[in-house]
Amino acid sequence: MDKFIIDGGRSLKGTITISGSKNASLPILLSTLLTQEICTIHQVPVSRDINTTIRLLEYLGKKVERLGHSIKVSPRRPLKTYAPYDLVKQMRASVLVAGPLLARFKKVRVPLPGGCAIGLRPINIHLEGFKALGASVSYQKGDVILKANRLKGASIKLPFPSVGATENLLMSSVLIPGRTRIQNAAREPEIVDLADFLNRMGAKIRGAGKSVIHIVGVKELHGAWHAVIPDRIEVGTFLIACSATGGDLILEGTCPEHVGALLKKLKACGAVLDIFPNRIRIRMKSRPRTIGEIKTEVFPGFPTDLQAPWMTLMCFSRQGRCRIQENIFEKRFMHAAELARMGAQISVAPPPAGEAKSAPSRRSVGGGVDGTTVVVHGTGHLYGAPVMASDIRAGAALIVAGLAARGRTEISRVYHIDRGYEKIEEKLQGVGARIKRVKE
Ligand code: EPU
Repeated sequence: MDKFIIDGGRSLKGTITISGSKNASLPILLSTLLTQEICTIHQVPVSRDINTTIRLLEYLGKKVERLGHSIKVSPRRPLKTYAPYDLVKQMRASVLVAGPLLARFKKVRVPLPGGCAIGLRPINIHLEGFKALGASVSYQKGDVILKANRLKGASIKLPFPSVGATENLLMSSVLIPGRTRIQNAAREPEIVDLADFLNRMGAKIRGAGKSVIHIVGVKELHGAWHAVIPDRIEVGTFLIACSATGGDLILEGTCPEHVGALLKKLKACGAVLDIFPNRIRIRMKSRPRTIGEIKTEVFPGFPTDLQAPWMTLMCFSRQGRCRIQENIFEKRFMHAAELARMGAQISVAPPPAGEAKSAPSRRSVGGGVDGTTVVVHGTGHLYGAPVMASDIRAGAALIVAGLAARGRTEISRVYHIDRGYEKIEEKLQGVGARIKRVKE
């Protein structure tokens, strides 16, 4: 297993080129299951989750060729309609094979992905949507089995604008006869990118990026090419890292409108921002000012995937408290305990008025932080320590902490970080960071 060793305290200065979005690439690659023709996807990041997706496509029967950031997917043999648990447990997004395979073969069997470090993450919204389209749902030995004699377009109202459920239902309804309407759909840029690709394949989707998406099912989809959007979470991570280290960075190949909520908060913290159509320059000349409150929300609100790095940034503000409320996942504060090892002062927020004082979800559990709200008391500095990544973004938060901390930080379990960031240490070395990867 690899770990990162970071000697902190150096400002990041220079230019970083942003990779394609991991979370857009995953459903786009899996939607190649909808056609028998060749698809080529460009600007796919090189990361562990993409490797897992490639293995999944190959297992299901596709031929996958990769050249740098381009991936060509062609037919090789008749597709299987079962995703193996071995791959699903490595990457929950594997459940996104359900939509395309159900639409094409009217049956699919997928292991239930189970919970993960950030929450329980059920897939009930996906399944209710498939039922509305005419599928039956049954369970066997930890797998969910979807079957249908006949699928038909339907009007589906999601109880929550789930990103994955919107993607799965989009990928099935494009091949299902009749009209489908997804209400309360997720509006994330990754949804728009997926719909763009599906439309290039011949799908008829209107309204992606809005709360109501309309789909008219077509008989078949053809091959297409597509370039994936820039990774807005990678952009956000580097913007925050620059702010924490008092640096001066140019991020090339960005979509500034995808990180609007973050840019607003960074400005309020004192960052100087120059925004161009596909480039952002950020300069931070002093310690970040404290922001009173951050609440994670669905797009276009502040993204949950940047909550952890933001928590690190607030540790470097010198006065004041930042209240951080996590509204998307119920257990996404594992990094708080690791930051505390580096000297962070983070406390669990008191329960809102009216809630029983002993409510377990708001208490400190097993030395970690559980619940939905924490308060960061900025002290202006952290010191290096050995810490452990628990998920992709918690790992990113520790990298930011290590870069700006005094002394040496050792981050173990960096395989979490490798799932979602392409060569993060090389990109950071290129802008002056002292970070290296070593074998544990
Ligand atoms: N939820 C349900 N039932 C469902 C689906 C979701 O209760 O059927 C709940 C989840 O448990 C969670 C909330 O709804 O509490 C949001 O889940 P959503 O389905 O929107 O998220 P996702 O599709 O599982 C994607 C990203 C996440 C990102 C979230 C929110 C991918 C592969 N993953 O997950 O990215 O945090 O949307 O924006 O696109 C990451 O990259 O580190 C990451 C976790």
